[in-house]
Amino acid sequence: MLKGIGKVLFTEEAIQNRVKELAAEITEDYQGKEIIVVGILTGAFIFMADLIREIKLPLTVDFIDVASYGSSTYSSGVVRIVKDLEKSIENAHVLVVEDIVDTGLTLNYISQNLLSRHPASLKICAFLDKPSRRQAPIKVDYLGYKIPDEFAVGYGLDFAEKYRSLPYIAVLAPEEYIKR
Ligand code: IMP
Repeated sequence: MLKGIGKVLFTEEAIQNRVKELAAEITEDYQGKEIIVVGILTGAFIFMADLIREIKLPLTVDFIDVASYGSSTYSSGVVRIVKDLEKSIENAHVLVVEDIVDTGLTLNYISQNLLSRHPASLKICAFLDKPSRRQAPIKVDYLGYKIPDEFAVGYGLDFAEKYRSLPYIAVLAPEEYIKR
């Protein structure tokens, strides 16, 4: 067990199985269509890499980066684009991929922003959701798992940029952060 890591929430095997199920659902729902998969940096990059390799559809990828969390576990509530998409999404079927939905402020901002660019459709796929923390109304179309209000790390999720490379998802040990 790594220092700073608490209980394991999802093993590598459980994650990989769930990713395959989500990809199968997406493949079925978008039959005959081409999609643009938009990853929200940085947390989504590992989930997105696994997910797109299981989606059996023609697709392209793009990334957007917004400023959200600093090195604490508090949401600043401040969301601004620090890296925009490279390509237009007008008239395209867009699937936004996020690691975790917490307050929903980030996805709310990004969804509104992307919708103003007139895509043909816009759906959200998130690996984790903490519904008890929600402040903005967000509909997650494809969800890996709901989790309680605990700070999760691994599989792309960080704490102060650490732990992203863990192949499993675990709870951060409480001594690692200042209680919210
Ligand atoms: P929201 O705007 O509050 O929904 O924040 C979403 C972002 O906060 C995610 O993309 C993560 O970067 C970060 N975040 C929220 N909860 C966690 C967590 O439990 N572990 C790691 N990052 C988190």
